[in-house]
Formats: sequence, C-alpha cells, structure tokens
Amino acid sequence: MTNAFKYLLVGALALTLPASAVSAQTKVGLLLPKSGNYAALGEEIDAGFVMALEEAGLADQFTIIREDTEVKPPVGVAKIRKLVLQDEVDVVVGIVSSGVLGAVRDFVDGSKVPLIVANAGNDHATGSACSKYIVRVSFSNGQINRPMGPWMFEQGIRKVYTLAPDYAAGRQMIDTFTKSFSAAGGEIVGSEFTPFGKTQDFGPYLTNAKSANPDAIFVFYAGGEAISFVKQYDSFGLKADIPLFGSGFLTSPLYVNAEGPAAVGVKTALHYVPTLDTPENKTFVGAYQAKFDRPPSEYTVQGYDSGRVLIEAVKSGASDRESIASALPKVKYTGPRGPLEINPATNNVVQNIYIYETVADGDALTQKVIATVENVKDPVNGCVMQ
Ligand code: PHB
Repeated sequence: MTNAFKYLLVGALALTLPASAVSAQTKVGLLLPKSGNYAALGEEIDAGFVMALEEAGLADQFTIIREDTEVKPPVGVAKIRKLVLQDEVDVVVGIVSSGVLGAVRDFVDGSKVPLIVANAGNDHATGSACSKYIVRVSFSNGQINRPMGPWMFEQGIRKVYTLAPDYAAGRQMIDTFTKSFSAAGGEIVGSEFTPFGKTQDFGPYLTNAKSANPDAIFVFYAGGEAISFVKQYDSFGLKADIPLFGSGFLTSPLYVNAEGPAAVGVKTALHYVPTLDTPENKTFVGAYQAKFDRPPSEYTVQGYDSGRVLIEAVKSGASDRESIASALPKVKYTGPRGPLEINPATNNVVQNIYIYETVADGDALTQKVIATVENVKDPVNGCVMQ
C-alpha cells in the first residue's frame, strides 16, 4: 500500500470521530496478560485499543496505565485494586481470562469503577453476577458457542466428543454447546477437561476421544494451547478420520499460521474474522495491515471496539466514573465485525456470529465464512441490573 493511501485511510477514520468533542484527560487502566498462555492475546488487544485512539486523533487525551494480570485471578485482583485505589483511573479496560473476570467482579461493582471487558467471556459477569459497572464489548462464552449446536446437527453430525481447558471459560463454552447440540437432537458421547495452561501432551485425551467413536470433536482452546492442540490432533492421526469443530479462537488469525496445514478444514464460530466483506471491515483491515503487515484478529477488534465505545461515551459528555458507566451501554455503531450494540438488560454485546472454515490461501491460512447468525443476543441469565 502506498503511503498516500495509508494516510487517506487513517484520515477517513479520524473524520468519523471528531476530536473537538473531547477535551478533558481520561485515565485508563489497561489490565491485560503480558505473560502466560494468553500473553499474545493481551498484546493484540492493547494494539487495537491504541489504534482506536490514534485513528480518532485522541491518543493524547487518554493516559494509559498498563498492568499485567499474568492470567492469574489473585494477581488480577491485586492489579485492579492498584489501578483503582492508587492510580485513580476513570475506567478499566481489558481482562482476557474468565477466571480473572470472575475474581475482580465484586471489587469492580463495589468500587463503582466502569470496566470495559475486552475479551473474557465469563457468562456470569453479564448474567447472574451482572453489574452496571461491567460492560462487555467482546462476547460471552455462551454467545459464541450456542449457534454451533443446531448448525452442526443440520450438517448431519449426531455424536460429538468435547474437550476444553479446566477453568471457567472451558466449562461454560462446553456447557452451552452441550445444551444447544442436545436440544437439536444430538448426543454428547464423552467429555474431558484438561489442566489449564499446564497440558503439553494432549495424546491421552485424544486417545480417549477416538475410542468413543464420535462423528466429530468439539473443543475450546486459545493462545498457546490452541496451537499445541491443533498440531497434535493432526500428528496423532485423528484429523484424517474425525472432523474438528470448536469456538473460533481455536484457529484465530493471530496464531493459525503457527498451526499450519493441521488447521485446514477446521470449522469454528466467532464474532469476527478479517475476511468479512463489508466497507467498515475493509477500511479497518487496510489500516491495520498497513501498520502491522498482517491481518487483524478478533482480539484486535475487541481492543479497537473497547477504544471506540470509550471514545463515544466521552464524546457524549461523560467524564467521571459514574457518567462513563451510564454512557457506555448506549453506544451503538456498525464497525469491523458488523452491527454492534450493548443490551442494557445485561450489558453484554449483541452481534453477529460467523461460522467459518480455515482454508489455505497460497502459503497462508485464511477464513472462509460459511454461515452468519445475525444479532445474537444472550438471554438475561438471571441478571438484575441496578
Ligand atoms: C476466557 O477465559 O474467557 C477466554 C480466553 C481466551 C479466549 C476466549 C475466552 O480466546
């Protein structure tokens, strides 16, 4: 891409969000993993968040204080306490792990600091443990996986074996898929949870899965674990016989090229893929590609949209914790992933879910969308918003 074109793209995005409406400084605590299994995801969310501020021409209006959760719930709690009580941030953005989100929930609610969740899908945070101070722009674990049950049944699959890491996200993703696949008429013929962040050898689990003789395997893995799992599923010989399905983080554009040919043909569901054919996404992918020389991932978009909803809230006049918390759920626009709005009954995002196949494109791997489920909205799941 020529430099002139790059500047045109950045200029066009800046025009949609005029800087003039924002004057005061906003202090943001960016709470992400910078180490551990999900470190790369944290870097990607950070890059997307900064990109939104820069494109809006507002980077100097936001002071960012970064802290590392290390993907450990007690560390997440210590770090958010430091950001809120010592640094006195106006808003916290981030959290990748459902375990960390569960651990910080009561502190966020009690200290009345707005939290924009930029990844962690913990269903309870926008269900029975919802809070007016927690707004999620990423996804919920149920939202990503619910559409896959009926869709796989329609493809003729009747018997499924499931695998996921043993922590809140793995349990919730598999639970929702199990319910929706069973409701469609399918049968779960076996299920195992692998020690989270510690499993290097998936061999014994793959052997058990194979001996249950399923039509398909459905999994949730992300980050480093996704790379190991997809490679071993191929090298242990299952790929040839049993098709692999899952939540789309399994074959994220962030690490699918590290998985290589083992990922080809895997079918998964996600709220964003960089191949979406819309003007908003093409502009976004062009700008990201120009900066980083690779396509953006769902994690980039989650960071970017966290930035955009915050900018929109501040532009509408919100300046302190209470007014930012009230303004966030009102934000609504069409962005790279398609239409995005926040359901005020739960504060979870309402968005399209895309079922996609990982396909080879020359030396690289890319995402072919095969079905779109529009405007997927979670049930309130016991949320009483107050
Ligand atoms: C989660 O813990 O909620 C989680 C982590 C990584 C993902 C998706 C969900 O890619």
